[in-house]
Amino acid sequence: MHVLVLASQKGGSGKTTLSGHLAVEAMLAGVGPVALIDTDPQGSLAEWWNARSAPEPHFAKVGLLQLSEALHQLGQAGIRLAVIDTPPAITESISHVIAHADLVVVPTRPSPHDLRAVGATVDLAERHGKTVLFVVNAATPRARITGEAAVALSQHGTVAPVTVHHRVDFAASMIDGRTVGEVAARSSSAKEVRELWTYIQSRLARLTQDASITPVKVPTAFAIHGLSPLESAPARTSDPHGADLVEADPAPDANSEFSRENAPPVSSEPMAPFDGRRERGRASEAAAGLSHRRAQPFGRRSPENPF
Ligand SMILES: Nc1ncnc2c1ncn2[C@@H]1O[C@H](COP(=O)(O)OP(=O)(O)O)[C@@H](O)[C@H]1O
Ligand SMILES: [Mg+2]
Repeated sequence: MHVLVLASQKGGSGKTTLSGHLAVEAMLAGVGPVALIDTDPQGSLAEWWNARSAPEPHFAKVGLLQLSEALHQLGQAGIRLAVIDTPPAITESISHVIAHADLVVVPTRPSPHDLRAVGATVDLAERHGKTVLFVVNAATPRARITGEAAVALSQHGTVAPVTVHHRVDFAASMIDGRTVGEVAARSSSAKEVRELWTYIQSRLARLTQDASITPVKVPTAFAIHGLSPLESAPARTSDPHGADLVEADPAPDANSEFSRENAPPVSSEPMAPFDGRRERGRASEAAAGLSHRRAQPFGRRSPENPF
């Protein structure tokens, strides 16, 4: 059984919201049976699940001290993925939850307060040798701080290549026990959650060396194609989500001309220095009849040319 833990010291960063959403996406992606575990005494996830009419994902409200036993029982019952929501705290008990994680997802709002709070969560994960994945959540579209937050977070660990933006449908969907995808499958929020799950699924597959959960298709925007495929990944055919996806790399084939053993040697020639590609670009723009405007640094207007 794989264990995904959502943790962050900061309340309101999106742990509960993303726990429910990711569990449902995992289920739709065929990674289930999925169990959601609420370890937060506030019980917001339990309230969401109680309002939910669909029976899956399964749900368990578990005291932090009973977690080991609960995970064992869920594994025995055939659960393949546990998604654990945690309270906003950095205590020994959170440390105890993180100890069970295959991957620790840390939702972070792009705000100075949230960014300052990530260090404590990262420390806990590092203490247990666990991989952390930051998810920038509730970002304002096109706000500069979103990119700045991602750069700041990248100093501490991997930042998911999918940003979840601030949209009212997240709060609205949680009221009646659904997800944004279940309310409006074609909405932008639904697409973000779907892509976020696909990315997390591919990370989980690698971290746990479980090729059976390697996503068959990943969004073209993910820069993860350069990675060599997991050994003997079996083909999966389910494609619950449709467009904007490309085939993931196939499993390595021992007879393949390009298997790792007989791959062509990497050239030891030094790389050619940068040879003015930008100039060639401009030349071809000129040849194509395109005008070339010189951008002002930081988008400022120059005093001579206010436009
Ligand atoms: N991407 C988002 N867009 C809009 N509202 C969000 C988003 N993510 C979370 N929220 C809202 O923020 C509040 C706190 O989220 P929650 O998931 O409960 O955080 P946590 O569990 O970390 O305390 C909730 O009201 C939730 O609906
Ligand atoms: Mg919560």
